[in-house]
Amino acid sequence: MSVRAFIYTVLVTLAISGVAALSIGLYRDGSLAVSGWTDAVLPGPISAKHAFLSDKCETCHTPTRGVQAAACISCHTTAAVDLGKQSTAFHATSKECRGCHAEHLGGVRPTRMDHATLLRIGAFPQNPNTSAREVIEQMATDLKKFLRLPKSDEREKAGLDCFNCHSNRDPHRGLIGRDCASCHGLDSWRITGFLHPSPTSKDCAQCHQAPPSHYMEHFVMMDKMITGQEHATVNQCFLCHRTDSFNDIKDIGWYKHH
Ligand code: HEC
Ligand code: HEC
Ligand code: HEC
Ligand code: HEC
Ligand code: HEC
Ligand code: HEC
Ligand code: HEC
Repeated sequence: MSVRAFIYTVLVTLAISGVAALSIGLYRDGSLAVSGWTDAVLPGPISAKHAFLSDKCETCHTPTRGVQAAACISCHTTAAVDLGKQSTAFHATSKECRGCHAEHLGGVRPTRMDHATLLRIGAFPQNPNTSAREVIEQMATDLKKFLRLPKSDEREKAGLDCFNCHSNRDPHRGLIGRDCASCHGLDSWRITGFLHPSPTSKDCAQCHQAPPSHYMEHFVMMDKMITGQEHATVNQCFLCHRTDSFNDIKDIGWYKHH
C-alpha cells in the first residue's frame, strides 16, 4: 500500500469511528470548538516564556474559536521591528500563527519554521476558513510527521519564491540565479554529498563572485599589494585565495581588514 493510500485509509477509519469530525473541528477551529475539551485532552506544559499564562488558558484560547492570531498579536506588536527582517517580514500580514508556533511542548522555544504552513496561509490570504480539502491535506502531512514518514516538499518548492525571503543569505551573491530550490531543500542549506572542487582548480570565478571592493581602486592599492600578485586579474581568485575561507590569503594567512 502506498503511503498516501495508507494515510487515507487511516483517515477513513477515523471518520468511521467519528474521530475525524472531532479532529477536523480541532484543526479548523482550535480546541474550544469541542465542548469539554479541557477534560478530554490534557495538553503538555506551556513554553517557558509563556509560563506566566499557565492558568490563563483563555488568553490564547478564545471560547468557541480556539487559538486565534489576534490573541497572539495583541501581546506581540512590539516584536514587529525584529521580525521586519527579510525572511520573517511575512509576520506583518500573517493571519495565522499555528503551524510554526507550537505550544504545550514544555520548555523548548515554541518556534519551528514550517514552509508548508507558509504555503497554506499564503495561498489563501483572504480566506479565514481553511477549506476541508486543505484541512485534510494538513492532517495527512501532520500524520506523516508523527509517523516519521519521509515527506515530500515538492509543493512548497513549486509554490514559494525562495529568493524573496532568502536573498540576504545568498552566499553565491546572485551568481547562480534565484532558483534556490533547484539545489536546496527546506530544512538545511547543507547539501549532502557536496564536495568542493579541488584547491588546485582555476575555475573559482565560475562559482564565486568577488565583492564590489575588488572592482575598485582597492584591488590595485590593497589586494595586489598585500599578495604581491601585481599581474593578477580579479577573476584569478586562485592566485590569492584558499578554499577554506576567503579571509585565508595565500602566503599571508588570516586577513581581515576594517
Ligand atoms: C500562550 C498561549 C497558550 C496558552 C496560555 C494556552 N494554550 Fe493551549 N494551545 C496553544 C496553541 C498555540 C495550541 C496549538 C498547538 C499547536 O499548534 O501545536 C494549543 C493547543 C491546545 C490544545 C490542543 C487542541 C488544539 O487546539 O490544538 C489543548 C487541549 C489546549 N491547548 C489546552 C489548553 C489549556 C487547558 C490551557 C490552560 C491550562 C492552555 N491550553 C493554555 C496556546 C496556548
Ligand atoms: C498575554 C500576552 C501574551 C500572549 C497572549 C501571547 N504571548 Fe507570546 N510572549 C509573551 C511574552 C511576555 C513573551 C516573552 C517576551 C520576551 O522575552 O521578549 C512571549 C514570548 C513569545 C515567543 C518567544 C518564545 C521564546 O522562547 O523565544 C513566541 C514565539 C511567542 N511568544 C509567540 C506567541 C504566539 C504564537 C501566541 C499565540 C498563540 C502568543 N505568543 C501569545 C506574551 C504573550
Ligand atoms: C510560516 C511560519 C510562521 C508563522 C505562520 C508565524 N511565525 Fe512567528 N516566527 C517564525 C519564525 C521562523 C520565527 C523566528 C525568527 C528568528 O528567530 O529570527 C518567528 C518569530 C516570532 C516571534 C519572535 C520570537 C522570539 O524568539 O523572540 C514572535 C513574537 C512571533 N514569531 C509571533 C508570531 C505571531 C503572533 C504569529 C501569528 C500572527 C506568527 N508568529 C506566525 C515563523 C512563523
Ligand atoms: C515568506 C518567507 C520565506 C520563503 C518564501 C521561504 N522561506 Fe525558507 N525560511 C524562512 C524563515 C523565516 C526561516 C527560518 C530561519 C530564518 O529566519 O532564516 C526559513 C528557513 C529556511 C531554511 C533553514 C535555514 C536554517 O538555517 O535553519 C532553509 C534551508 C530554507 N528556509 C529554504 C527555503 C527554500 C529552498 C525556499 C523556496 C522553496 C524557501 N526557504 C522559501 C522564510 C521563508
Ligand atoms: C546550482 C546549485 C545551487 C543554487 C541554484 C543555489 N545554491 Fe546555495 N549552495 C549550493 C551548494 C553546492 C552549497 C554548498 C553546500 C554544502 O556545503 O553542503 C550551497 C550553500 C549554500 C548556503 C550555505 C552556506 C554555508 O556555508 O553554510 C546557503 C545559505 C545557500 N547556499 C543559499 C542559497 C540561496 C539563498 C540560493 C538562491 C538565491 C542558492 N543558495 C542557490 C548550490 C546552490
Ligand atoms: C590579487 C589577489 C586577489 C584576487 C585575484 C582576488 N582576491 Fe579576494 N581578496 C584579496 C585580499 C588580499 C583580500 C583581503 C583584503 C580585502 O578584504 O580586500 C580579499 C578579500 C576577499 C573577500 C572578502 C572577505 C571578507 O570577509 O570581507 C572575498 C569574498 C573575496 N576576496 C573573494 C574573491 C573572489 C571570489 C575572487 C575571484 C573572483 C577574488 N576574491 C580575487 C585578494 C584577491
Ligand atoms: C563548481 C563550483 C565551485 C568552484 C569551481 C569553486 N567553488 Fe568554492 N564554493 C562553492 C560552493 C557551492 C561553496 C559553498 C557556498 C558558499 O559558501 O559560497 C563554496 C565555498 C567556498 C569557500 C567558503 C566560503 C565561505 O564564506 O565560507 C571558499 C573560501 C571557496 N569556496 C573558495 C574557492 C576557491 C579559492 C576556488 C578556486 C580554487 C573555488 N572556491 C572554486 C563552489 C565552487
